[in-house]
Amino acid sequence: MPVSPIPAKFFLDLIKHQFTPIPLPTTDCTGQTIIVTGANAGIGLEAARHYARLGAAKLILACRSTAKGEAAKANIEASLATPGVTTIEVWPLDLCSFESVRHFCRRADTTLPRLDIFLANAGISTFRYSPAPDAEGYESTIATNVISTFLMAFMLLPTLRRTAAQHNTTPHLTIVTSDSHTFAEFSERNAPAIFPTYLTTAYPMADRYTTSKLLSLLLTRELADRAPSPVVINCVNPGFCRSTNLFDDWPVLAALLLRVVFFPLSRSADTGARVLLAAADGGPESHGAYLESGHVSTPSAYVSSTEGGEMQKRVWGELVVILEGVEPGVSKGV
Ligand SMILES: NC(=O)c1ccc[n+]([C@@H]2O[C@H](COP(=O)([O-])OP(=O)(O)OC[C@H]3O[C@@H](n4cnc5c(N)ncnc54)[C@H](OP(=O)(O)O)[C@@H]3O)[C@@H](O)[C@H]2O)c1
Repeated sequence: MPVSPIPAKFFLDLIKHQFTPIPLPTTDCTGQTIIVTGANAGIGLEAARHYARLGAAKLILACRSTAKGEAAKANIEASLATPGVTTIEVWPLDLCSFESVRHFCRRADTTLPRLDIFLANAGISTFRYSPAPDAEGYESTIATNVISTFLMAFMLLPTLRRTAAQHNTTPHLTIVTSDSHTFAEFSERNAPAIFPTYLTTAYPMADRYTTSKLLSLLLTRELADRAPSPVVINCVNPGFCRSTNLFDDWPVLAALLLRVVFFPLSRSADTGARVLLAAADGGPESHGAYLESGHVSTPSAYVSSTEGGEMQKRVWGELVVILEGVEPGVSKGV
């Protein structure tokens, strides 16, 4: 089957979700430790703000720029009705550097008494081919949105599990994907191996972001299959949100067109964040699921197809080899 021509259903679903009211998150986070990646801007910043409002004990803003992270921390603290409840820390994290990811996760493992929520929100969308030298030369979108995100998931899973055992709780690992996975062309699926194609310019960058989100969805499903309870693992589409920087690197005309056409449908970054918090508070039924607007939803037909299932195993196998090369033994924690 073709991975996905843009189906009419995509637009109908988009309209339905974009106008679904998303309630203010109310789950008490007292005592919890929460990591949000990409917490200095856009949806991640608003998600972090909600966690501080909900009384998390410790909130870690994982940001590649410490200055931007500190500004976000000040911004969040200034907006709280009762500041001082949550200890907010800015930890450096560059998803284009495997060493930075390893350092971050080791720090979490060795210094955090508990970890209740890992919200893997950081992501990029670009049409420019830019290899990440500190991520073995993988193209930056794939390095950021897929390989490093899952390196973090693998490395933080034991910390989440330990928290469940010690505190009799249900921690959450939530990965931010996108409904745009629906129209990924993913033409590299016919290559002998998928990930090596991201070391080259052989495949179009116009399709890279959507493909990265398709891959993250497939890999979340496989991770959840292999890592049953106690940690709830799921992925979420925040919906199309305005007031974020995601499209800032797009060619001017493409970004303008996107904003003009879709702006009337857009959600605020705060609403997108509410959707993320609902997923990271999901019940056992959300394990391995794709969530939209606060509920378990249906991913693209390709994801649920036999071909998609085979691809899920294939990319998982390739990813494990890469991650084992970066952090030997890391897959044993899954
Ligand atoms: N906005 C939408 O309409 C939409 C729709 C569907 C899915 N999403 C997803 O939602 C998530 C958040 O997007 P957003 O719209 O809030 O975008 P955004 O405003 O651009 O925020 C992205 C965040 O990720 C961080 N980041 C980027 N590269 C990084 C790296 N190498 N290491 C560490 N952090 C890095 C950014 O840091 P810097 O500030 O330093 O760049 C920023 O904090 C993304 O996963 C995106 O794919 C967004």
